[in-house]
Amino acid sequence: MALKIAVVAGDGIGPEVIAEGCTLVRDVDRALDLSLSFDHKDWGAERWLKEGVGMPKGALEELARDYAAIYFGALGDPRIPDMAHGREILLGMRQGLDLYANFRPCKCLHERLSPLKGKGPAEIDMLVFRENTEDLYVALGGTFKQGTADEVAQDVSINTRKGVERILRHGFDTARARPRHDGMKKLTMTDKHNAVRFGGGLWKRTFDQLKGDYPDVTAEHLYVDVLAMEMVRKPERFHVVVANNLFGDILTDLGAALMGGLGLAASGNVHPGKIGMFEPVHGSAPDIAGKGVANPLAAFWTASLMLEFLATKDAALAPRLLRGARAIDAAVTACVDVGPRTPDLGGAARTQDVGAFVREHVGRALAA
Ligand SMILES: NC(=O)c1ccc[n+]([C@@H]2O[C@H](COP(=O)([O-])OP(=O)(O)OC[C@H]3O[C@@H](n4cnc5c(N)ncnc54)[C@H](O)[C@@H]3O)[C@@H](O)[C@H]2O)c1
Repeated sequence: MALKIAVVAGDGIGPEVIAEGCTLVRDVDRALDLSLSFDHKDWGAERWLKEGVGMPKGALEELARDYAAIYFGALGDPRIPDMAHGREILLGMRQGLDLYANFRPCKCLHERLSPLKGKGPAEIDMLVFRENTEDLYVALGGTFKQGTADEVAQDVSINTRKGVERILRHGFDTARARPRHDGMKKLTMTDKHNAVRFGGGLWKRTFDQLKGDYPDVTAEHLYVDVLAMEMVRKPERFHVVVANNLFGDILTDLGAALMGGLGLAASGNVHPGKIGMFEPVHGSAPDIAGKGVANPLAAFWTASLMLEFLATKDAALAPRLLRGARAIDAAVTACVDVGPRTPDLGGAARTQDVGAFVREHVGRALAA
């Protein structure tokens, strides 16, 4: 059966970079005979403003039942300042599809992109996993005496044994299956259990219990403040990093900066064995939307992560899907190296110039 992909281009530069990404994936699909199928969903600001609908009724059930993956652009529109549609669609998918593992490669592709002196591709190459369904992001809490001098506000952080264990196991499994370029297999778990005793304590105890199941993976614990410092000071000591929702949110943005900015940062939100949603890390960038200068490389790298995930869902197609993913990775690296560059990377190229370069590179690799 064809692997079905739901495409949610979204708002702002989302449709610009996702259009390029879809053209690229269709090329890969044709070259490798993957029989992927694409369905475009018009979820985003326009529909919200017209109909008050973020995701239509039954959409989550349909995604879970019929689709292998979601290729997602970005949401955000100045006409909806509270991002109500974004919350419904994006958080709806993350929670409703139980996409518990958010991951972002933090891999520097070229010395020139690194903000750290003397650190480049050999040093900056880690994969950050963020627990995506619990912690402070469950919207539990409230205010008391709001608007008075005695106001009290509370947000509740939820951590469950099941939630902590499954993200840690996924991190350990990934560290084992995908060593760093230099062969390192390591998982760094980060928390703050010296100060945040109960949730942090659960993370630390679970980590200590699980690490014995992975004797081939070096297991390390660092408090999150130390980790943030070390990511900048000595990024080469990290391979897989696993954090809760809040710490992961912050660390992954630090990771995006280490690899050269939002124009390159890719991410996946997956429930292993079920469905995955793949999105460039950046938002809808209203400041450059419609100008044709958005960098599509993050959306391309995201497409490669999606093909890699699809390979876990179809053993027969897996070798070809992985070949397609590697061809995209190589083309993105070549583009950063010698190809056209959009203004965010210091060039004057347009989105479509970058798309054409990457497609040509991929086409040549797959024809060989
Ligand atoms: N996952 C998402 O959908 C998501 C993520 C972040 C922000 N947002 C939303 O997007 C809107 C804009 O947010 P923001 O400005 O804080 O973040 P942003 O990521 O949209 O933009 C930040 C800066 O980076 C630049 N930038 C981002 N992506 C780029 C690309 N591909 N190529 C070149 N430059 C790029 C933008 O021009 C801007 O100057 C807001 O409504 C926000 O809520 C959505």
